[in-house]
Amino acid sequence: FPLKPYNTFGIDVKARLFARFDSVEELQELLQLPELKQEQKLILGGGSNLLFTKDFEGVVLQNGVKGIEKVAEDEEHVYLKAGGGEVWHEFVLHTLSENLGGVENLSLIPGTVGAAPLQNIGAYGVELKDVFHELEAVNLETGEVRVFDNEACRFGYRESVFKNELKGQYIVTHVTFRLHKKHKLNTSYGAIKSTLEEMQVQAPSIQHVSAAVCHIRQSKLPDPKQIGNAGSFFKNPEIPLEQFEELQKKYPEMPSYPVSETTVKVPAGWLIEQCGWKGKVLGNYGVHKNQALVLVNYGGAKGHDIQQLAHNIIQTVEDKFGIRLSAEVNIM
Ligand code: EPU
Repeated sequence: FPLKPYNTFGIDVKARLFARFDSVEELQELLQLPELKQEQKLILGGGSNLLFTKDFEGVVLQNGVKGIEKVAEDEEHVYLKAGGGEVWHEFVLHTLSENLGGVENLSLIPGTVGAAPLQNIGAYGVELKDVFHELEAVNLETGEVRVFDNEACRFGYRESVFKNELKGQYIVTHVTFRLHKKHKLNTSYGAIKSTLEEMQVQAPSIQHVSAAVCHIRQSKLPDPKQIGNAGSFFKNPEIPLEQFEELQKKYPEMPSYPVSETTVKVPAGWLIEQCGWKGKVLGNYGVHKNQALVLVNYGGAKGHDIQQLAHNIIQTVEDKFGIRLSAEVNIM
């Protein structure tokens, strides 16, 4: 079964088996099938955060659970429950049309609602965990449905329990979000502020913020429909403050964001650019010209080539700065 249309990197690999489910019941039936019991399973959302390096020998399960419904409301919030197979940005558009605040900064992130909690998607000062209420997930072994609240998900920077202790054990079928009737805009991110100024809006709404975010993303990040990619390939590394201060002596212009009193985060894009990688083209793949954190497939690249490029980048950044980058995308 060809997987090329199912991964935004556009890597041409195959899966031995493929199945799609549109409800929890359908998924439970699939998991009961004797021919699937022993198979290795890979759950696909939008395929926007993974790099295939070879054919997949098991069964790919595509989450097709749809629907967005209001499940509760109080004075300040509306709780929306969305199917894991909903496209993330469609969900964002739905919240905007209902005038509910909280996910406008997360506009245009590729992928699905069900995949969003796995890596606690984040952008422009907001993370999924800020609006997350709970999720329902099906255990791949037993077929049982389990509810995870915010704490049980153990969200961190591009992290959750589903990338760690419970990796590969659950499929997220529904996510419930707590959205705001009274909006608290987060325009702290420099590029949002300046874009809103360019747009000449005096009192920005969540719709304006979303438009600004879409504009920024479209100017910096390649559209996977045109150039294969999976967004940020690496995480922004956190380093001890001491190490940062030492590096600052040599690189006074090195950007950073405080994380705690003893650690700072350094933009990986900056480190990679300093090593001369930005815009590098290696035949049919390379490093994006506007954002060094994004590796791209210009068409026909092998997953292995991109993985090798990632290794080379990690090596040069480590040699120059003594900082070891780690991948943000899942390498299969
Ligand atoms: N920078 C460079 N060169 C580059 C890229 C970045 O010097 O080629 C430096 C600049 O100083 C810039 C700073 O890095 O000011 C930050 O860059 P940017 O605002 O583009 O954000 P980022 O830290 O590179 C993170 C997320 C993105 C998210 C943006 C905006 C990670 C791994 N990435 O990137 O998320 O959209 O912030 O909030 O945390 C993703 O996860 O796929 C993703 C795109």
